[in-house]
Amino acid sequence: MQDCLNRTINYMRISVTDSCNLRCRYCMPSDPSFLPSDSLLTFEELLRICRVSSCIGIRHFKITGGEPFVRPGLLPFLSELKNQDFNPQVTITTNGTLLTEETLHFLKEISIDGTNISLDTLNRQRFCQITGSDSFPAVMQAIKTGCALGLPLKINTVLLPETKEEDIEKFLCLIKELPLALRFITRMDIGKNMDAPLKEDGRFSTFAQVAAFCEKKGLSLIPDSSRKGNGPASYFHIPGFAGCLGEIDAMHKKFCSSCNRIRLTADGNLKPCLYYSDSYPLKELLRKGCDDESLRARIWQAAYEKPSCHHFEKPVKGDAREKHFMNQIGG
Ligand code: GTP
Ligand code: 5AD
Ligand code: SF4
Repeated sequence: MQDCLNRTINYMRISVTDSCNLRCRYCMPSDPSFLPSDSLLTFEELLRICRVSSCIGIRHFKITGGEPFVRPGLLPFLSELKNQDFNPQVTITTNGTLLTEETLHFLKEISIDGTNISLDTLNRQRFCQITGSDSFPAVMQAIKTGCALGLPLKINTVLLPETKEEDIEKFLCLIKELPLALRFITRMDIGKNMDAPLKEDGRFSTFAQVAAFCEKKGLSLIPDSSRKGNGPASYFHIPGFAGCLGEIDAMHKKFCSSCNRIRLTADGNLKPCLYYSDSYPLKELLRKGCDDESLRARIWQAAYEKPSCHHFEKPVKGDAREKHFMNQIGG
């Protein structure tokens, strides 16, 4: 389907839980409280939403959280979603801590279309500081096993005030050897009631700074226009490297004019845009016994009415900004 600005909408991000086993401060408040399990959409409800969405042309589904693997029953859900007869493309974004060898084999068996692992540093101590957890070895093991199994893997690295040259150097060593798409993400100011743009106070707060650092080290970044997934990243190839670099910078490289997505929160609200608080509730509709046609009409309306763009880079007074944190939205 096309939205009111003629953008093709074919992608839905589905948060299956707001809960997480990590505590990254840029993603959730310091004292988070999570939704009770009866307010989450059930997997049956989610499958119905996916089927109905496919009728308006939404065929790409990104499963997110919080951390999706903390939700019991996720694996059978992924398998059922992959088996729907409209042939959906299903990818997942995870912190990687619960990706055991068995789970990775399962993802391979169901032919998951992509696994994105969030990892902001390769320094174990900094990982603890950022996430409040000592599960760095488990994440590294998952990355190595996933690559050995031939799973398509991407790494999401949010650039933080604590990001150091050592982090960039270690990430470069990693993608020299392993076929990973390593995307550096400019942090977005979401979840706090701030009127001023986020302070860019680190040594590396944008991909441009990372790219300049790579070039200073003698590496050439060659733009790679081949599409790797359905997201806003743009990619660069480095000669001699198994992996590649990606840039996701919503603040300085706005990609709203080619936005293809809507988002479903774990408690059943359909959000046309990450930046705004507007949402279309689906849960009551589903639980009141609506027919597929009225469900389809509400999903269509949410997608049709997508706003033209966010204002992360320069908040506009009076905008009804999203107040929820990233863990409650799914990124
Ligand atoms: P694939 O490459 O297809 O896996 O998709 P993706 O890159 O969109 O997925 P992922 O969940 O890995 O998201 C990567 C980063 O992009 C996260 O920081 C998201 O918050 C951000 N992001 C994803 N979609 C949007 C969007 O519509 N707008 C903005 N501003 N940021 C987005
Ligand atoms: N800005 C940018 N990306 C974020 N993520 C979480 N919070 C933010 C933020 N404030 C990323 C996570 C994960 C993805 C779903 O969103 O690192 O990889
Ligand atoms: Fe959890 Fe991911 Fe948020 Fe970190 S970024 S708290 S891993 S959901």
